[in-house]
Amino acid sequence: MNCRRWRLATGNTAVTDHPSPIISHASLALARCDELARWSEEAGRLTRRFATPALAAARATVAGWMHAAGMEVRRDNVGNLIGRYTGARPAAGTLLLGSHLDSVRDAGRYDGPLGILAALACVERLHAAGRRLPFAVEVAAFADEEGVRFGTAYLGSAALAGRFDPAWLDLRDEGGVTLAEAIRADGGDPAAIPADRHPGGLLGYCEAHIEQGPVLEARGLPLGIVSAIAGQGRYALSFRGEAGHAGTVPMALRRDALCAAAEFVLAAEHLARERPGLVATVGQIAAEPGASNVIPGRATLSLDVRHHDDSAREAATGDLRAAAARIAAARGVALDWQVAQEHPATPCDPALTARLARAIEAAGYPVLALPSGAGHDAVMLAQIAPVAMLFIRCAGGISHNPAESVAAEDVAAAIEAMERFLLLMTDDGGR
Ligand code: HGY
Ligand code: MN
Ligand code: MN
Repeated sequence: MNCRRWRLATGNTAVTDHPSPIISHASLALARCDELARWSEEAGRLTRRFATPALAAARATVAGWMHAAGMEVRRDNVGNLIGRYTGARPAAGTLLLGSHLDSVRDAGRYDGPLGILAALACVERLHAAGRRLPFAVEVAAFADEEGVRFGTAYLGSAALAGRFDPAWLDLRDEGGVTLAEAIRADGGDPAAIPADRHPGGLLGYCEAHIEQGPVLEARGLPLGIVSAIAGQGRYALSFRGEAGHAGTVPMALRRDALCAAAEFVLAAEHLARERPGLVATVGQIAAEPGASNVIPGRATLSLDVRHHDDSAREAATGDLRAAAARIAAARGVALDWQVAQEHPATPCDPALTARLARAIEAAGYPVLALPSGAGHDAVMLAQIAPVAMLFIRCAGGISHNPAESVAAEDVAAAIEAMERFLLLMTDDGGR
């Protein structure tokens, strides 16, 4: 194929003298997101939860692409896939890239996989150019960022960061399967997870991710950098009243658990609307026993509370719990409130982020720093390495929705920025 050799120069040296333009790598990344979207637990929509056959199939597909890119490929016991493109100087350390391979229910196809594939594109371009950087480049496909199956986000990156809590192994999914059983069924050994902690020498972790918000589109920018990731708390609530006959129990004598839950859902929305920067979401709710002619005796619901300021989030969480208790008391029902997980707000590393900003500028784009309301695996990796995040514009800011979409040109911009970031990391050995 006779095509112009594409030279991406930073300073006076070509980054990679590559036979194909970055846009072709961007189009390939999008096509691969389409291919990965086929691996779903559900017909007709994308749902790919932790330690499911769908995730295993997606992982095997990505492993094949990593092998083809000249990477050493391994999976760990929790189910993360990690490709390694060795460096020219083993003592120069490792730069970790990547994102997550799992999804929410009825998900978009770019939340997670696009970050893995943009990173892989950078490695493919190095490999095709026969180039080695001083440091190794690793690309991680994390096994569970969303936490849909067991309610705890970041299971995969927590294992790599050495922050996996063994108590999580007793958590059960909606079918009663424990996390330990799920890990074993997926081919891992739960007891070996502590040994899977990253061996160290990390220069940093850089994750590309769709913005999942409207800011970049509103500002007409393809890329952004993340200043900090909002803190988040996840809680499991249940209201227990009294089941009864829908036709015979007078309204005044009822202890309807679902009505208590419904009142709480609206109270949570009202409180969050009143407090700038606070978001509170009930994404799951269920009534038991779940028959149209039975007054619900029990109602279970999830609660997700986030804010960029931890003290504001903690205060709001306390007020929400008090509101739930008030509602329960007024209705003569019992409240149970369990903490599923709490993560503080996580600032991105200023030095690594500044280097990423320089890469975006070198690629010819303005730099906008913005906070992330969404959680990311960078929250876990920040506990063991400097982290930086690259946001990619997505249409309408839509995410956690099959309408999620991103333009090939913006993916190309991200790949170019990441490629330049890798080069900037080679300056003074990446430190
Ligand atoms: O929920 C989140 O913020 C992310 O999508 N896990
Ligand atoms: Mn994500
Ligand atoms: Mn997500």
